[in-house]
Amino acid sequence: MLKMNFWNAKWDLDIKQCPCDAHFNDWIKQKKLKNKLIYHFGTGTHHVIGIKQATNKSNNAVFAITASREEYASYIELAIDRPRITKSYYAYFGDVYLTNPKLLPDFDVVTLFHLCEFFDAKNKAYGGVDDAKLLDILTAKTKPGGYILFFTGSFAFPSAEKIIAKWEKNGRVKRVGAFKTLLVFRKTK
Ligand SMILES: C[S@@+](CC[C@H](N)C(=O)[O-])C[C@H]1O[C@@H](n2cnc3c(N)ncnc32)[C@H](O)[C@@H]1O
Repeated sequence: MLKMNFWNAKWDLDIKQCPCDAHFNDWIKQKKLKNKLIYHFGTGTHHVIGIKQATNKSNNAVFAITASREEYASYIELAIDRPRITKSYYAYFGDVYLTNPKLLPDFDVVTLFHLCEFFDAKNKAYGGVDDAKLLDILTAKTKPGGYILFFTGSFAFPSAEKIIAKWEKNGRVKRVGAFKTLLVFRKTK
């Protein structure tokens, strides 16, 4: 049996090296986005997006994925310690490359900060889609007028950029521009 290509690591908050989640919270604040449903790829152990959006009175809700045992365990601890957070923040353990659109609602905002960081032959062997297909699935799950954001500081951004360039040409999205280390697009139709 093929085992999941889970992330055998964890990520604690390190704003210097990986400011994407903090910058995302700043972007939501600057845009004054409220009552939005957000998809977030990669929780970390810190859950700063889920926690901030649950506590900033925005009424935003966050649905997130982690492929790390430790990060998922930290979500369980968070749920036990601060149950109200889980009313607007769900994190699940799984492989993003096995994302099934049937199981997802439509989102107002999608973060793909770690696009192209993790897919390899192991994910493919058990039916995982590649990064371009993942981007297509989540674009289809973004509401018209919704936002899709990437992290220009990712080590895999040079690869992601190639996928993004092709995706941008298909006419479903419009480039909004940069916000700090993030690159923001808007879905047009
Ligand atoms: C470098 S950490 C960054 C975490 C957080 N976004 C931050 O910047 O602080 C990468 C994240 O991607 C998640 N991840 C890695 N492989 C994944 C996969 N196949 N499916 C879903 N999430 C994955 C990890 O669990 C982790 O949360």
